[in-house]
Amino acid sequence: MTATAQPTLEQVEQERDAFIDTLLDATAGVWKIFTIYMGVELGYYSALANGRPKTSAQLSSATSTDERYAREWLEQQTVAGILTVDNPDADATERRFRLPHGHIEPLTETESLNYLGALPAIVAGTVRPIDQVIEAFRNGGGVEFHDFGQPMRCGQAGMNRNLFLYELGQSWLPSIPDIHERLSNGRPARIADVGCGLGWSSIGMARAYPNVHVDGFDLDEASVTEAQQLVREYGLEDRVNIQLRDAADPHLEGRYDLVTAFECVHDMSDPVGAISTMRRLAHDDGSVIIMDERTSEVFDPAGNDIEWLLYGFSVLHCLPVGMVDTPTAATGTVMRPATLRSYARQAGFSDIEILPIDAGFFHLYRLHG
Ligand SMILES: C[S@@+](CC[C@H](N)C(=O)[O-])C[C@H]1O[C@@H](n2cnc3c(N)ncnc32)[C@H](O)[C@@H]1O
Repeated sequence: MTATAQPTLEQVEQERDAFIDTLLDATAGVWKIFTIYMGVELGYYSALANGRPKTSAQLSSATSTDERYAREWLEQQTVAGILTVDNPDADATERRFRLPHGHIEPLTETESLNYLGALPAIVAGTVRPIDQVIEAFRNGGGVEFHDFGQPMRCGQAGMNRNLFLYELGQSWLPSIPDIHERLSNGRPARIADVGCGLGWSSIGMARAYPNVHVDGFDLDEASVTEAQQLVREYGLEDRVNIQLRDAADPHLEGRYDLVTAFECVHDMSDPVGAISTMRRLAHDDGSVIIMDERTSEVFDPAGNDIEWLLYGFSVLHCLPVGMVDTPTAATGTVMRPATLRSYARQAGFSDIEILPIDAGFFHLYRLHG
């Protein structure tokens, strides 16, 4: 059907019915995500992960939760295809539910690269201030990062945690020979990690490179406090220092061998200011790496394989966060390579390069000049 041709009644009805199916499927997905969030938070999946089935009373006792609620959740999860039940015809309180083997790793194995337990948290955080976001659409204002609350903070950090602990220093940085050599040649090296959030990237780089000192900067107070706590838990206080600082602060000083910004430039109201700071901190001989979303070069109505996800985050979270300050670059999650190139050039770099690193949802950019 072309844009100008009048559709037949039959075509309109087909389109309508397909759209209704899409909406119903989407609702099923939303219920799944939010009830998975509950299951992760309440420890239900962990309690079910030992391969043995549980009744609602056994689950409630193992998790110190209410039996009636646990029973409803177990039934809902079964109907949603997340759990199975051994004896569906038994009395409700006698039914034994189990977590299928293939669901254990994504839902409970927190150190696995396939762990997705943080995804429902980030979704829950994203919609937390939905009324404020709608109001921001009306008045052109923004919504503060901290208004998205702990689920957003921890969901965001949890989504990237294992990439930073198990890929960044083990595979991504080692594939950039000069940076890897500088960080691992035995001489003390310094990294500045701007927009570090809960600090997993700082911790991951410090763990991978024992001679490295990392300064992490973030302007969200709750994130900084939690990052400092995690640094202590990992015993890295002597080599990782997390500070409450604005990356765009022109007074931010230092001399670093590597300056990084992981999934945060698109959130910044002043990305050019932040990239200028990164350039200054790297001096002439340091390197600058930015990890941001794996967007396509140009807008395509079909999107690429992940832009449906990125645009959702953008509308609900990243753009409103980036609109808090005035003036603002108002970037949004879908920061295209051309946009970052423009920011980098305004900050004094000559160009950006997309590194040939398979980082899933992300591009790893190196800034030159
Ligand atoms: C999407 S989170 C990413 C956090 C972390 N890098 C990660 O990958 O999990 C964006 C972070 O950027 C921080 N941020 C935004 N603007 C900033 C600025 N101007 N200076 C420092 N941090 C900033 C936010 O507080 C937030 O923690």
